[in-house]
Parts: sequence; C-alpha cells; structure tokens
Amino acid sequence: MHNIAILASGSGSNAENIARRFHDKGNARVAIVMSNKTDATVHDRMAALDVDTLTFPNEIWDKEPQLIIDELVRHNIDLIVLAGFLRKIHPAIVRAYRGRMVNIHPSLLPAYGGKGMYGRRVHEAVIASGETRTGATVHYVTDEMDEGEIVMQESIAVLPDDTATTLEARIHDLEFDLYPRAIESILQHLPDKGTPGSTHV
Ligand code: GRF
Repeated sequence: MHNIAILASGSGSNAENIARRFHDKGNARVAIVMSNKTDATVHDRMAALDVDTLTFPNEIWDKEPQLIIDELVRHNIDLIVLAGFLRKIHPAIVRAYRGRMVNIHPSLLPAYGGKGMYGRRVHEAVIASGETRTGATVHYVTDEMDEGEIVMQESIAVLPDDTATTLEARIHDLEFDLYPRAIESILQHLPDKGTPGSTHV
C-alpha cells in the first residue's frame, strides 16, 4: 500500500478526483491533504470523503520545512502530489522527496510555465497567442518552477470560440483523466522508500 500526500491551496477538484480514484483500488490511498490555507474549499471536499487535512501557514512552508517533512514521514508518505498548491516548495522538501513529488500544470510545458503562470492566466495567454492546441503536463518537482522532468503530457484543441473559462473547464476534464494515470504509473516504478531523499533514476 502506497501513501499519497496531496498539497492544495484552492478548490481541490483534482485532489477530490485523485482521492476518489484511489479509494477503492487497494494499492494506494490519499493519507493526508496538506494546505497553506485554512479556508480553501479542498478542506470541505476532503471532509466529505473522510480524508484528513492539515494546514500550515505560509511562514512554516517558507521557513520551517523540517516540520512539514516530519509530518510527511509520520504519515509514511511515498509520493507527494501537488494539485493547485500556490506556494514554492522549500528546497529542503524538494531534496527530501526528489523523484517522489509531482505537479500538474495546465499547459503543454515548457510553454506557458514559470513564475506568474497559474490558473486562468495560463489559458488567457494561450488564447491571446492564438495557439491551436494546449493541454496538461505532469512533471517531477525540482527547485526550478515547472521545469522538472515530464512524466506525462496530453493535448486538446483550442476551439475558435474558447474563452479562458471554457478552456479551463476542458483542461480540468483532461487533468481528471491524466493525473491519476500518471500517479499510477509512478507508483508502479517507485523504488522502496528507504529514507526520504532517495532518488528516482
Ligand atoms: C489545476 O488546473 C492544475 O493544473 C493547476 O492548478 C489547478 C488546480 O485546480 N496546478 P483544482 O484546485 O484541482 O480544481
């Protein structure tokens, strides 16, 4: 049984989808959802599914990474899944969970990634540039934002009458299919946990 920790700051629709998807599978489960916001909707979604959540304020995420790592170790976490977590991950956490932490980004990385490229802004930029295709990318988390090795990426067409809102909704649908598949594939190849910090090849 693999234990997943999800990190989320907002709505948490991906977190809910992943928690539901792995609930019945028997080989993995969402053990904890960690946030930096007490009022994020993700808490309500998880309460309905009986998944525990934990909030640390931004100062802890930024300055006390060991407290976060202690909590991840206490929950025996194999894989950290970022799902709309709007805070840079402290390098100490990245180091401790290298190869065991993934993110999903709502574009075809490396396009439309990096600082300031999140949420609706990504889709607005895609439409403004006249792109005919966009998509979602699952990648490992490194110290460089949105630059880690790509695990899976899939694209959809940008339709002539798409707005940022319609595109965001269709990308969410794509993510609900892509992210659990990517997680499943990573879990199949995950080396034994050992101590946090063991790397993937
Ligand atoms: C998703 O679109 C994901 O690509 C991005 O943040 C969004 C989170 O949405 N990283 P939700 O909170 O899962 O609804």
